[in-house]
Amino acid sequence: MDVVETIHDLRQRRRIQGINQVVGVVPTMGDLHAGHLRLVDYCRDQCSFTIATLFVNPLQFGPKEDFASYPRALAHDKSKLEQRNVNVLFAPSIEEMFPEGQTGQTTVTVPNLSEQLCGAARPGHFNGVTTVVSKLFQITQPDFAYFGEKDWQQLTIIKHMVRQLNMPVEVIGVPTCREADGLAMSSRNRYLSREEREIAPTLFQTLREVATHLHEGSSAYADLEESAKSQLHEVGFRPDYVAIRDPNTLKPPSSDQASVRVFGAARLGRARLIDNIGVDR
Ligand code: PAJ
Repeated sequence: MDVVETIHDLRQRRRIQGINQVVGVVPTMGDLHAGHLRLVDYCRDQCSFTIATLFVNPLQFGPKEDFASYPRALAHDKSKLEQRNVNVLFAPSIEEMFPEGQTGQTTVTVPNLSEQLCGAARPGHFNGVTTVVSKLFQITQPDFAYFGEKDWQQLTIIKHMVRQLNMPVEVIGVPTCREADGLAMSSRNRYLSREEREIAPTLFQTLREVATHLHEGSSAYADLEESAKSQLHEVGFRPDYVAIRDPNTLKPPSSDQASVRVFGAARLGRARLIDNIGVDR
């Protein structure tokens, strides 16, 4: 595996592959766990040339968020990717990505979708994501790009951006990788104390209970959302939202809609956990 830190070197490495390779990219912020590696496995299966990117993107963190303390583990990440036969790891510095500074940076915004759910609690977050993902697509020029369903809203926004800006890349969603007790894997699970770690799977369990009610035919969306939030509150979470939405538009679904998705976000100690599950009725 080549480790490349500059855009120039990445482009050169990409150009040598020519047009005969199917190039896939897996964008990450590092501190890789089995969820990230599942994305890499999908990419390796479908593409002949796999690029992983590792960049803790300052644009997507709010002023009071965990940019400075976000876990960084470059040596560990390199060895994980090497074991997975990744061809190139692109790990640029902040200066390489934003040589003119972050203020005045051209941005990419997906309106509406970016303002709901996590966007309401984290203003500007998704603009930071779409801006940096656009840059990574321009730099790596992939045929396929892999994103996790754990961040369903992010996946939806990126698909929307690619479609509306005619980017020549196909976005692939990869199912969420979970711990044995159901907790979705996340770099931020590290922030949980032992007691909080025991409470954490309740988020997934609560969303699953909502899904069961929906599956059995309930369409009392507001009641289901409220009671799930109170359940989370009772076990010690500070819930941001539990929301039943259309999987593509993220809008509230009609009462007889066949396919919906249940989203949840809740704070627990220092961590903000998110999860979602699909329901077909
Ligand atoms: P990061 O949180 O490092 O996640 C990188 C990719 O891994 C994302 O597509 C995310 O959805 C996926 N992922 C994380 N946990 C997962 C899990 N348990 N199962 C399956 N996939 C999982 O998401 C980002 O970074 C950034 O916003 C990024 C897209 C890199 C832009 O900066």
